[in-house]
Amino acid sequence: MLVLHGPNLNLLGRREPEIYGSVSLEAINQKLRQLAEAQNARVTTLQSNHEGTLVDAIQDAFGVHDGLAINPAAYTHTSVAIRDAIAAIEIPTVEVHLSNIHQREPFRHHSYIAPVAIGQICGFGARSYTLGLQALLDWLRARDSRTAQAE
Ligand code: DQA
Repeated sequence: MLVLHGPNLNLLGRREPEIYGSVSLEAINQKLRQLAEAQNARVTTLQSNHEGTLVDAIQDAFGVHDGLAINPAAYTHTSVAIRDAIAAIEIPTVEVHLSNIHQREPFRHHSYIAPVAIGQICGFGARSYTLGLQALLDWLRARDSRTAQAE
């Protein structure tokens, strides 16, 4: 699994803690690695403040990763490039947000990513990530068992 974190998420823990909580990004990544390993999966994590770096990472995931969990952060609301990269690679993708973007300022209500994701999890703080990764693993297993039955 590839887990991508967008801009400013490197500041988690000290960035607007009343909105984003007090858990650091490293602690979240550690939790995700543990969750995956307990289910015989592996997680690679990357944070970037740069749209092009995230696009490159999504493109590079093709043929390497089975699933993508992404918190595109502010790029959620602006990036056609990230959306197009996800659509291009056709890797099942879950969109994750710590805060409930639909409850916040109107400019956060629209996501360019949602239409190319299998689902979106938001509003549960750091738990959004573990819920998102678990949803992705469950979705992939269900797909694989449907494929095995059809063969
Ligand atoms: C965020 C929500 C975005 O609107 C914001 O720009 C972020 C974080 C979240 O995880 O709640 O940087 O993606």
